[in-house]
Amino acid sequence: MLFKQQAWLRQKLLVLGSLAVGSLLYLVARVGSLDRLQPICPIEGRFGARSQAEFPLRALQFKRGLLHEFRKGNASKDQVRLHDLVQQLPKAIIIGVRKGGTRALLEMLNLHPAVVKASQEIHFFDNDENYAKGIEWYRKKMPFSYPQQITIEKSPAYFITEEVPERIYKMNSSIKLLIIVREPTTRAISDYTQVLEGKERKNKTYYKFEKLAIDPNTCEVNTKYKAVRTSIYTKHLERWLKYFPIEQFHIVDGDRLITEPLPELQLVEKFLNLPPRISQYNLYFNATRGFYCLRFNIIFNKCLAGSKGRIHPEVDPSVITKLRKFFHPFNQKFYQITGRTLNWP
Ligand code: A3P
Repeated sequence: MLFKQQAWLRQKLLVLGSLAVGSLLYLVARVGSLDRLQPICPIEGRFGARSQAEFPLRALQFKRGLLHEFRKGNASKDQVRLHDLVQQLPKAIIIGVRKGGTRALLEMLNLHPAVVKASQEIHFFDNDENYAKGIEWYRKKMPFSYPQQITIEKSPAYFITEEVPERIYKMNSSIKLLIIVREPTTRAISDYTQVLEGKERKNKTYYKFEKLAIDPNTCEVNTKYKAVRTSIYTKHLERWLKYFPIEQFHIVDGDRLITEPLPELQLVEKFLNLPPRISQYNLYFNATRGFYCLRFNIIFNKCLAGSKGRIHPEVDPSVITKLRKFFHPFNQKFYQITGRTLNWP
């Protein structure tokens, strides 16, 4: 009898204990996210009549949950109406550069409660078939957001595609344009690495980087090689400047975004006229990945996919020197036009 009673008591204690631990965990999570939310969210005076204390929490909940579901096209008309959700054209676009860190930049900006990212690359302005579908098609590709939030998309091919500046200008001549760049030779090798990986996945062989980057007949840098051409940033930027003044561009240092992301993000917040809300709390270094990862709250964090941060093949140092020498004058011009000196070799 006594044994039965003890067992019953033990069972009860176990249930109560689990309940207590569960509640504690819930509270910690909630307080953690609230803690995180209080400082990020009172974007003073920008949310109209809506309760400022209430909006941020909802905004973030939406960004993590409901908005995410809705983005996948699961929102009913009633839900959209109920939450005043809209699909807005982007107020800012990350136009490039491919392999500059465009995904990291977009994901990190999305930590900001007033920013909603378009998860996929939309390729509206660089793809004639998509462009022919019209601006409403583009808008419908955008995630749901509150009217006070801003939508950002990234399609790195925009930077190098001839027709894009004029097309974006026609949509919004005062749009803000973000360009993330890396040291041009490193970027070219990163670009090559991505293509190489694609070939290997299909069991195909591919040329060595050296063979593509250097013209075997002249022994000079091969400017016909796309990975080299893309890294001549100033050439592409000059095309954009025919439509937009330099003040509408912000240059992000992609090399620094890898090693020291916060100051780069703070510069972007300023450029986008957003209150500073991304903090060191949101970014933690993951030694296994060798990169900074994102922390939204004490429960939710994530690193970028494994396709970001590939190991580059070793490249002949003389080819690297040749490429760096080749890019040098273009880099100087780029610093001069943009007003941002990046001290590349
Ligand atoms: P590598 O793969 O050459 O290292 P994009 O998103 O434009 O394709 O750029 C990919 C690059 O983003 C990667 O190039 C990587 O170095 C860089 N990057 C910057 N911050 C990163 C981060 N926090 N996690 C992973 N990759 C990051």
